[in-house]
Amino acid sequence: MTLGASRSLEAGARSPGCRTAGLYIHLPFCASRCAYCTFATSTELQMLPRAMNALARELDKLGRRAGCPLATLYLGGGTPSLVPEPDLSAVFAALDRSFPRQQGAEVTLEANPDDVTDEKAAVWARLGVTRVSVGVQSFSDDVLVMLNRRHDANRASAAVETVQRRGLEVSIDLMLGLPRLSRAALEATIGELRRLRPGHVSVYLLDMDKPHALSRLAECHPGLIPDADAAAAQYLAVGRALVMSGYRHYEVSNFALPGREARHNVRYWLRRPVLAAGLAAHGHSGRQRWANLNRLPDYLEATEAGHPPRAWSRTLSADEVAKERVMLGLRLARGVSDCEIAACTALVPEFGKELEDFLSLGYARRAGGRVHLTPRGWLVSNELLARLW
Ligand SMILES: C[S@@+](CC[C@H](N)C(=O)[O-])C[C@H]1O[C@@H](n2cnc3c(N)ncnc32)[C@H](O)[C@@H]1O
Ligand code: SF4
Repeated sequence: MTLGASRSLEAGARSPGCRTAGLYIHLPFCASRCAYCTFATSTELQMLPRAMNALARELDKLGRRAGCPLATLYLGGGTPSLVPEPDLSAVFAALDRSFPRQQGAEVTLEANPDDVTDEKAAVWARLGVTRVSVGVQSFSDDVLVMLNRRHDANRASAAVETVQRRGLEVSIDLMLGLPRLSRAALEATIGELRRLRPGHVSVYLLDMDKPHALSRLAECHPGLIPDADAAAAQYLAVGRALVMSGYRHYEVSNFALPGREARHNVRYWLRRPVLAAGLAAHGHSGRQRWANLNRLPDYLEATEAGHPPRAWSRTLSADEVAKERVMLGLRLARGVSDCEIAACTALVPEFGKELEDFLSLGYARRAGGRVHLTPRGWLVSNELLARLW
């Protein structure tokens, strides 16, 4: 990756088609490591103040080139709720110096239930946070212990209620396909979701593809993790319960009450520009894709020397853009247009054949000049989408 390449990608963010941008900021510190996590995080909390200074520096430089106002800002991690008030205020000060924010911009902060107090929620609201994404994972203590979470189910509920009392939007992260997630534990989780009624719920199936403590444990205890059919049944059960309670299943892993979709995440699926700052953060704008360095010492060294902390950047070809449009679009309930499908089928005929099978098996539907996957189709879509790349 050359510095020249990174200059051109930032120019891409202010291309004529770009009227607004999103910004993802990665805050990589966690108090402990969860058993399933593969995110770029560090538990060396003594490094936090230095990393926040480096981030403010990166934001100052990035903002001077960014060009268009922010419609969405997303502070993810790691555990942004762990960042002490003075450090978080410094990050927002850097943002305010360099990134004009649209009126009514969505500002999301990811929180671990342990960190949520009324005082912290008040600080987040004062800084301009509009939405808190709470990492609940499960409302079963048995499951939470297996995941090495710091909180129990009562603490998770209390955290959600604290944020709701402050008048901030709430999203809940849940995971399925987990060890010890019995029928009763799943019912308890669904019951608590219904009681709390957050505006937004993200439901993830445990990803076992990357190495983490649970995948290593499962090698010695084959029965530990529910099989794919059991995990799929859990996903369909939670989905049905949410839809019956008035949520719209608008993306593979996401459910929202009307008008409460995650505007930042929707930008990714619609390929709208999202800038990125912080350790290992990924950004895109038009045809350009880039990622920051993912080792903390490398990130600090580059940023403190005044360089963009890029690991790589690349420009997609026209064919790659057509394929990406379909891959991302099929994640959304609205699906993709027949024209977009035709462009992909011309490039990859096997994709067209696979899609016809999906349509005849009821995994996908065609209506109003668009194709979209059904919830069952989302569960088995890997094979279809693998044809594209
Ligand atoms: C960065 S974390 C959320 C914020 C905070 N760090 C926390 O854990 O409470 C984003 C979410 O990704 C999901 N996640 C993480 N690792 C996963 C895995 N291996 N499989 C499926 N989902 C995962 C979890 O639901 C988690 O809440
Ligand atoms: S799931 Fe969240 S709290 Fe747990 S290690 Fe990953 S980023 Fe940190």
